[in-house]
Amino acid sequence: MASLFSSIRLILLVVLLISCMVVEYNSASDLSQDFDITWGNERGKILNNGELLTLTLDNISGSGFVSKKEYLFGKIDMQIKLVPGNSAGTVTAYYLSSEGSSHDEIDFEFLGNLSGEPYTVHTNVYTQGKGEREQQFHLWFDPTDDFHTYSILWNPQTIVFSVDNVPIREFKNLENIGVAFPKSQAMKLYSSLWNADEWATRGGLIKTDWAQAPFTASYKNFNANICNNNSSLSCKFLVENLDPVNEEKLRRVQQKYMIYNYCTDKKRFPQGFPPECNAT
Ligand SMILES: *[C@@H]1O[C@H](CO)[C@@H](O)[C@H](O)[C@H]1NC(C)=O
Ligand SMILES: *[C@@H]1O[C@H](CO)[C@@H](O)[C@H](O)[C@H]1NC(C)=O
Ligand SMILES: *[C@@H]1O[C@H](CO)[C@@H](O)[C@H](O)[C@H]1NC(C)=O
Ligand SMILES: *[C@@H]1O[C@H](CO)[C@@H](O)[C@H](O)[C@H]1NC(C)=O
Repeated sequence: MASLFSSIRLILLVVLLISCMVVEYNSASDLSQDFDITWGNERGKILNNGELLTLTLDNISGSGFVSKKEYLFGKIDMQIKLVPGNSAGTVTAYYLSSEGSSHDEIDFEFLGNLSGEPYTVHTNVYTQGKGEREQQFHLWFDPTDDFHTYSILWNPQTIVFSVDNVPIREFKNLENIGVAFPKSQAMKLYSSLWNADEWATRGGLIKTDWAQAPFTASYKNFNANICNNNSSLSCKFLVENLDPVNEEKLRRVQQKYMIYNYCTDKKRFPQGFPPECNAT
């Protein structure tokens, strides 16, 4: 009798454990459901049942991935751990883009550096094929020793770039003063790791040290709150704007960490700055 009870108990325990594993497995996001590795042969990998994605770069090739879905408005978050150590010359690009010659694009690019020197976060917004709206930042932490969250909020009113939920850049819809805004072309999410040592680190002065290869960037906890062109009734991000608290955070980050702003680069715009630069 006792042994029958204990085997029933054992069976129940096993069933319980298996069902917990199933629940856990289902609740973890599976990056292989969201992304295709598009280039680099075996240099892009989805690991741990889809929990982790890694891109690598060596002296032969970089690698990249693209989302299976396309988006028209939403809030997209990804945790990224950038190439550690001497990453000079490498660029990790992470961006939304539509296709074609008059494409729209919302860009993060992480420019590597020598060990101990700061990464540069390069941002840009293209509308109808035209970019030239660069802003660059240093970060307030080392982006290579852990994962941090990089987000793009995109709705009909505004585009907000955030790092660990702190806004670093806003590109408002200023169609009322003649600035085109991305709002009708759906975009996919792309990322790639590649060699750009002609320009990336200190303007190309520091080259990639191939003795450090392979270089690896890692991704996890992708989260997309997608509006899909207003089809989703629960799309609260469609009306989201920066509140005063976040406006203040944005201003402080820009004061302290911005290292380049096209809107203050007089040499580039001798005929005057683009109209969005003069709007507050
Ligand atoms: C690339 O790196 C590998 C490993 O360090 C080395 O054996 C190979 O010669 C290199 N190839 C080129 C084209 O530099
Ligand atoms: C979005 O919806 C509008 C209005 O329904 C439609 O005209 C447009 O083609 C749609 N765009 C995409 C990319 O689905
Ligand atoms: C690399 O470090 C130098 C020196 O601190 C800094 O000026 C530069 O902005 C950093 N980033 C890049 C990508 O060169
Ligand atoms: C989506 O809905 C918002 C709010 O109703 C509206 O302002 C916007 O023009 C719509 N956008 C598209 C692409 O249909």
